[in-house]
Amino acid sequence: MQSKTAYNLDKYTRQRIKQIDQALNKFLPGPRSKPITIHRAMRHSLFAGGKRIRPIITLASAEACGGLVSRAIPLACAVECIHTYSLIHDDLPSLDNDDFRRGHPTNHKVFGEGIAILAGDALLTQAFDIAARTKPTKRYSIAKTTLELTHTSGSQQLIAGQVADLEGEGKKLTLAQLRYIHERKTSALLTCAARLGGMSANCTTTQLKALTDFGRHIGLAFQVIDDILDVTQTSKQLGKTAGKDQAVNKATYPAAVGLNKSKKIAKNLTDKAYMALKPFKGKAVALEAIAGYLLDREY
Ligand code: IPE
Ligand code: IPE
Ligand code: MG
Ligand code: MG
Ligand code: MG
Repeated sequence: MQSKTAYNLDKYTRQRIKQIDQALNKFLPGPRSKPITIHRAMRHSLFAGGKRIRPIITLASAEACGGLVSRAIPLACAVECIHTYSLIHDDLPSLDNDDFRRGHPTNHKVFGEGIAILAGDALLTQAFDIAARTKPTKRYSIAKTTLELTHTSGSQQLIAGQVADLEGEGKKLTLAQLRYIHERKTSALLTCAARLGGMSANCTTTQLKALTDFGRHIGLAFQVIDDILDVTQTSKQLGKTAGKDQAVNKATYPAAVGLNKSKKIAKNLTDKAYMALKPFKGKAVALEAIAGYLLDREY
């Protein structure tokens, strides 16, 4: 990951990804644990080479609040398991029907639909097993961090977004309807990632509010950029099939307002994310660099 600022984001993300991957490998049943098929399927998608943006945000948020990476690791891994499960199910023939993900054939292409559904179920369940290992802090009990994850991944946030996304196919949606989808299917989990990092560090109310605003804006920008990249990049660059949104008439920002306006919207949202970090008074350098990187990312 390259950042435009002097800050060495590349070094930071490489170190954090290593810590995240080691922890995920430890938390998950081994590839030879029985039943072998399901554990291989879970690992196929989890270790296929995702950007790990959400868990990195959890760790960077904890650090911005003066917390330890080690305390934030279980929550970071739980978020990545939920994200990966959502991708496996998102790619199923009955949803987006995609054959490539993270540069590899999708879970159902390798293991079949039945196992792919179950691998998603298992990763979602695994997330709560891992989250339960978090050390509670003075302000945030295990119940609080668990509810954060359940609300985010439940039928009024992530699932609500996926439902509206599915039902919006082929329809001309208003910008408000599109925003409703993006807030839930994408921004909710990115916001949760930032908040959980803060919670693991026993953050103050002011810090939690700042992380919430940061996550929300970065999350909205993230999906607008995802929609843009679907139009501007190749499948090889993305590691997933490009041009799919238009092919199935998905409601996206480029479809609603065009590419140029979409880019302006993403830039505005990123500026708002920077603004949200003000209370950290320069101590959220990693988060700031991540926001910049996400706006300029190529996949
Ligand atoms: C893809 O997320 C799904 C969206 C919410 C747009 P990422 O672009 O973070 O995917 P990975 O984790 O890097 O594969
Ligand atoms: C995926 O959104 C959102 C979730 C999986 C919750 P997209 O359908 O736009 O993501 P990609 O483009 O397949 O990665
Ligand atoms: Mg989708
Ligand atoms: Mg999709
Ligand atoms: Mg997309």
